[in-house]
Amino acid sequence: MYLPKPLSDKITVTHLKKLKQQGEKFACLTAYDYSFAKLVEACGVEVVLVGDSLGMVIQGHDTTIPVTLENIKYHAQTVRAGLDKAMLMLDMPFGSLNSPQQALDNASELLKATEAQVVKLEGGDTQIKTIEMLSAFGIASCAHLGLQPQLVNKLGGYRVQGKAKAAAEQMTVTACDLEAAGADILLLECVPAVLAAEITNTLQIPVIGIGAGCDVDGQILVLHDILNVTAGKKPKFSKNFMQGQSSIQHAISRYVNEVKRGQFPDQSHSF
Ligand code: KIV
Repeated sequence: MYLPKPLSDKITVTHLKKLKQQGEKFACLTAYDYSFAKLVEACGVEVVLVGDSLGMVIQGHDTTIPVTLENIKYHAQTVRAGLDKAMLMLDMPFGSLNSPQQALDNASELLKATEAQVVKLEGGDTQIKTIEMLSAFGIASCAHLGLQPQLVNKLGGYRVQGKAKAAAEQMTVTACDLEAAGADILLLECVPAVLAAEITNTLQIPVIGIGAGCDVDGQILVLHDILNVTAGKKPKFSKNFMQGQSSIQHAISRYVNEVKRGQFPDQSHSF
């Protein structure tokens, strides 16, 4: 049985950087409302993301594209009410980042309304100037590389990114550029484990992985996936943590435990 290990410290970007330096893994999870936010934090999850995955798991869309700034704000306010020590990170939805100024205005609005600590931006190298601007105005950011679900219509599907040598080299260069621009965290989604490990070792900032193998600094998954609530086909990189557990609390505690011990993800959840 996996028992919850509540957080002892308030989680900040500095705290995550310290965990990276100490080689300690951290656990992140999505949440979209007060009750689950409270439960997730009580189980020791360091970073809670109000992801635009809410478009799929809460609203029932096929993609994350319809999610609005108002949707993120609403769910983030409910999640904020459930958090005390965990870091709150918010996705910037599709269409909210079309210029550095628009991103700054939208991120400022979200942070004022929710007291979140970090905003997460898809877009890779197209967001370098934006990240520079956010950083200059005191906004902490998490850049997102690899599979970027907001680009699904250009990518033609949800596929592993960075498999070819040139694409892997380009991703490493972009990761370094994003760090130099002032990104505080990098998230890698659906990239080969070897490439994710190389990027993690190259960067000073913490790297969070989803489908990026076990040699990154932190892991993130979608709450509904780990509780086996998501309808339809489950992503290879996720895992049903409810299996064999008698409660949601035990399932989330098991996830945290396996991430911290480096037991999740194993090869069957990696590329
Ligand atoms: O929207 C989301 O939940 C995300 C995670 C899957 C990383 O971006």
